[in-house]
Amino acid sequence: MPKWLNDAVFYEIYPQSFYDTNGDGIGDINGVTEKLDYIKSLGCNAIWLNPCFDSPFKDAGYDVRDYKKVAPRYGTNEDLVRCFEEAHKRGMYILLDLVPCHTSEEHPWFVESCKDERNPYSDRYIWTSHCFERADGLPCVGGEAERSGTYVLSFFKCQPSLNYGFYEVKQPWQLPMDHPACLATREAMKDVMRFWLDKGCDGFRVDMAGCLVKNDDEQLGTSAVWRDVRAMLDAEYPEAALLSEWGNPRRALKAGFHMDFCLHNEVAAYHTLLRAYDGAIYGEVRGEDKSYFRRDSGASIVPFVKQYQEDLAATKNDGLFCFITCNHDTMRPRANLTPDELKLAYAFLFTLPGAPFLYYGDEIGMRYIKLPTKEGGYFRTGSRTPMQWNGGANLGFSAGDTDSLYLPVDPAPDAPTVAGQEADPDSLLHTVRAILALRHAEPELWANAPFSVHFAEEGSRLFVFRRGSLYVAVNPGAVECAFDAPGARAILFSIGSCTVAEGSGRVTLGAQSFAVLRSTP
Ligand code: GLC
Ligand code: CA
Repeated sequence: MPKWLNDAVFYEIYPQSFYDTNGDGIGDINGVTEKLDYIKSLGCNAIWLNPCFDSPFKDAGYDVRDYKKVAPRYGTNEDLVRCFEEAHKRGMYILLDLVPCHTSEEHPWFVESCKDERNPYSDRYIWTSHCFERADGLPCVGGEAERSGTYVLSFFKCQPSLNYGFYEVKQPWQLPMDHPACLATREAMKDVMRFWLDKGCDGFRVDMAGCLVKNDDEQLGTSAVWRDVRAMLDAEYPEAALLSEWGNPRRALKAGFHMDFCLHNEVAAYHTLLRAYDGAIYGEVRGEDKSYFRRDSGASIVPFVKQYQEDLAATKNDGLFCFITCNHDTMRPRANLTPDELKLAYAFLFTLPGAPFLYYGDEIGMRYIKLPTKEGGYFRTGSRTPMQWNGGANLGFSAGDTDSLYLPVDPAPDAPTVAGQEADPDSLLHTVRAILALRHAEPELWANAPFSVHFAEEGSRLFVFRRGSLYVAVNPGAVECAFDAPGARAILFSIGSCTVAEGSGRVTLGAQSFAVLRSTP
């Protein structure tokens, strides 16, 4: 694992919505560069930048038309290189978003692949043998190409699946993984990675990482592809980091990823912490909200602890099991947690092992805003609105006309802003900065440092865990809790009230509180 990951804290940036430097209403690469000091001031020393490549933007850039060219609306390749350089000067790292599963239907490879005449790209995508032949249960499109055949999709209609082969070949048109055309796809993706790594990027977040190879229920074929890619990185770019969108760290980390994240996936024990999954799938929180961090949910931490301890043990030597505050595909956590609840949720997420991920704007509690769909966002559009910097025009996001904005800014008169929260010592922003400063200062809170459970019981809202000599305690409920913490002395950080009885190690946590305590053995 690249050493820098041990103390990495990530900030996810949706480039079109972060900061517009040329007044065209769309965030840009120079906007990221200008805000690096701000990001660093939060305690985030690494960035995951959502796709910023040339694209028709039918899925907000996850439909790539040219992997090697920054989309003109965001700037130029030179701007991106300058962004890498400025980040590195500040001891920061930037991961680009790699979309290896599919391209845009406008990608030149696909344009070639659609031609009737055989050419080097004929098998770059997955085609059946005849225009009326369906793809054996895989989603497919017919009638669009000169070539007789239907092609397989990996997400929207605009995203034809690249061909990495089939783990089990069941039809004549299905190629095995080691077919030269499938190996060529893999090499083409390595070529894209080398292109950006040579320009100074520090690794990739990989989109739909678990879906490359088809007829591959256990994802064995897909895992083999990634192990091959990882071997290339280890040999040629040992400091490069690989983060997957897999949602199954046990598999992803064994497949060669350094990091995978949870919170938005099917595992109830995780998504019920903040209820991100409902937001990821439905765009609303459904039914009774049993989020652990809701003051009045009554939920205990026990289901989380059981699942997490097992998963952590299973992945211990493989890489980092990470959590996100949310991402560009889920509802923002502010949709169902109050700012006070968010403080506790973030303090908890930012003191766990693994590398934490903070989605832009979550540090000020930006709201989820119901909006008509934009660029294939649908309900996700509500989590993609412009960053709120200050109380000025367009909340400081852009000096352009309000009509030209990528998406409208939060219209609420009390919309949170960075400037507003900087002036308020009790703000969520200050809490985020304080907890992340503590994390960097205490190597026992870093990614690979030990974690163990000290107190977690059904019927109690309290959760206490250890990171080395530290105790970390959270009480999201409305009722005071107490616990024994042998050796506890200094309170390093707290939210709400926390007291330690002199000599006895008895710690009392008030309603909605959080504390990190140091102990002597
Ligand atoms: C991932 C991305 C999402 C995109 C999809 C297809 O889930 O996070 O935004 O729409 O893949 O590329
Ligand atoms: Ca711009």
